[in-house]
Amino acid sequence: MSNEKCDQDSTCKSGDQEGKCSQKEKEDQSEHLIRKTMGEIKNKFMVLSGKGGVGKSSVAVNLAVTLASEGFSVGIIDADIHGPDIPKMMGVEGKSLVGRGDALLPIEAKNGIKLISAAFLLRSKDDAVIWRGPLKHSLLKQFLGDVLWGPLDYLIIDLPPGTGDEALSTAHLIKDVDGAVIVTTPQDVALLDARKSITFCRQIKIPLIGVVENMGGFICPHCKQSLDIFKVGGGEKAAQEMGVPFLGRIPLDPEMVNSSDSGLPFVANHPDSETTEVFCRIAKEWRRLLEGNNKKKAKVG
Ligand SMILES: Nc1ncnc2c1ncn2[C@@H]1O[C@H](COP(=O)(O)OP(=O)(O)OP(=O)(O)O)[C@@H](O)[C@H]1O
Ligand SMILES: [Mg+2]
Repeated sequence: MSNEKCDQDSTCKSGDQEGKCSQKEKEDQSEHLIRKTMGEIKNKFMVLSGKGGVGKSSVAVNLAVTLASEGFSVGIIDADIHGPDIPKMMGVEGKSLVGRGDALLPIEAKNGIKLISAAFLLRSKDDAVIWRGPLKHSLLKQFLGDVLWGPLDYLIIDLPPGTGDEALSTAHLIKDVDGAVIVTTPQDVALLDARKSITFCRQIKIPLIGVVENMGGFICPHCKQSLDIFKVGGGEKAAQEMGVPFLGRIPLDPEMVNSSDSGLPFVANHPDSETTEVFCRIAKEWRRLLEGNNKKKAKVG
């Protein structure tokens, strides 16, 4: 690493007498901040998928609300920098971030869920973020190290589809992600990509918590017949074939769309529905597997 002095940066606390620090010092300081902030969070996990639009953000938001309503403290990082949807889904679209000292306060949404998203940095909701990898890496660094998350039971990181910059940067910056959940729809073209996400987690050594099959099956509200619009069972089969736990199947439900569009997550909007029960079962199973993994890690450590 070069020892050249970087441009003065008022956020860096490791400046020498001239108010400047080397690139190496700056990186060490940022790494230290991430370690310190993430050290206060018991479980950090990523929600991934190979394909877009399969319901990652919906699963992230509804799992967060399920966990928060069980009394856990929860945060969400919306790591989808080009398509940050979580603020809209959580009913906090249009809010602006406030700083405290050198750090940022996360936005607080329903059930005290703390949230950070690139959407809070845009002047207009129609603005596009036209950034390459290094800039996204810097923003994720700030989301992890410069946000006052405080102690949390769970930090959920909602990623864009695929195994690109955001997923790699997040895993690289956190270093000890506790687990990944892969969301897929049941049709072959989604499964093909979901399998790649599983391989990605194995290659970069992120423990796989399991696969969630979303949009698997639909009960017609008129004729009550079951229609398998995106097929059904593919997620479970792929999980079995690849030796990953299957966490559960969420049916296709038009109310999921209405809930996320209205900013009131489905499980909060429909606490007594069968789909909410599925989310509760998934959260329970997922916590059981996560705890099992953490115990194994502690033994090895
Ligand atoms: N089980 C479901 N039934 C009906 N609609 C759903 C279901 N799950 C998600 N949706 C809807 O599908 C759309 C896409 O969902 P979502 O944004 O969660 O997917 P995503 O995988 O995060 O997408 P992206 O890849 O763009 O980040 C949303 O309008 C959401 O409300
Ligand atoms: Mg999404």
